[in-house]
Amino acid sequence: MTLVTGKDILAPARADGYAVGAFNTSNLEITQAVFEAASEMRSPVMVATSQSAITYAGHEQIRFMVEDLAERAGVPAALHLDHGTDLDVVRSCLEHGWSSVMIDGSHLPFEENVRVTKEVVEMAAPRGVSVEAELGRLMGIEDEIAVAASEATYTDPDEAREFVERTGCDSLAVAIGTSHGAYKFKSEPKLAIDRLRKIAERVAVPLVLHGASAVPPDVLGLAQRYGAVLPGARGVPPESIREAVAHGIAKVNIDTDLRLAFTARVRQVLAETPEVFDPRKILAAAREGMKEVVKSKMELFGSTGKI
Ligand code: G3H
Ligand code: 13P
Ligand code: ZN
Repeated sequence: MTLVTGKDILAPARADGYAVGAFNTSNLEITQAVFEAASEMRSPVMVATSQSAITYAGHEQIRFMVEDLAERAGVPAALHLDHGTDLDVVRSCLEHGWSSVMIDGSHLPFEENVRVTKEVVEMAAPRGVSVEAELGRLMGIEDEIAVAASEATYTDPDEAREFVERTGCDSLAVAIGTSHGAYKFKSEPKLAIDRLRKIAERVAVPLVLHGASAVPPDVLGLAQRYGAVLPGARGVPPESIREAVAHGIAKVNIDTDLRLAFTARVRQVLAETPEVFDPRKILAAAREGMKEVVKSKMELFGSTGKI
């Protein structure tokens, strides 16, 4: 199956109350893990590339790798630009066959965010590519000055309605308390589900949850057992993800959990079999670990068997 747009994948998800995973990739084994999982779980999937992943791996290499693996897997798949902030990168992704792009103007004042998002919507329209935008800011724990201050960065439901109406974006990333990376919460994890419910009442397009990795205890434990130093790593618990999906989240972004699974398995192979020096043996173990993570996410998000 050739690549489909983000809208093709996410509209049915929002309508039916499940979510589709968007998994960040920058190499062959991550991409294989994602598509092997999608094929076995009969799940639609999005493969996401950050601007830095594109710098690392190259447009052509990513595009041909993803397209070929998607075709072999026989599942609906989108190739998505994650956190596009540079309009030249957005343009180059459109030219290289990305089927979904994100313009991240969340750091800009509201009117500027509207302007730049509209520009990308107009840029993507002739190619039929769908556009994700972001309103509200995801903060890291280091940014968490006080609860009131961090809540001021959350997405405002009325602004969200106005933003989607004025920009014509196809999906909207919201800030409800998650953050990127492995250190999301200093104390008990808490998402602003009530705020999400209000946004979902006002906005019909699929909603997107960034910074949604769980930092699974078993994966973290394995990495730590083999020497990883990740003190205080903490993610979003599965129950919170389930609740968010029940309240309008239709796309869930996962990068950190794949990085952790990769790291844990590579460390394990190197520690347990010091005689191994064939990269394929090392990376196949990493691929297996990431595939397990992707499959468990698909089950959690409810996207299994949806094709
Ligand atoms: O949201 C950000 C992703 O985790 C990608 O991060 O820029 O290090 O590839 P990256
Ligand atoms: P995590 O760091 O929680 O995996 O979030 C990834 C993400 O939001 C990519 O856009
Ligand atoms: Zn993100």
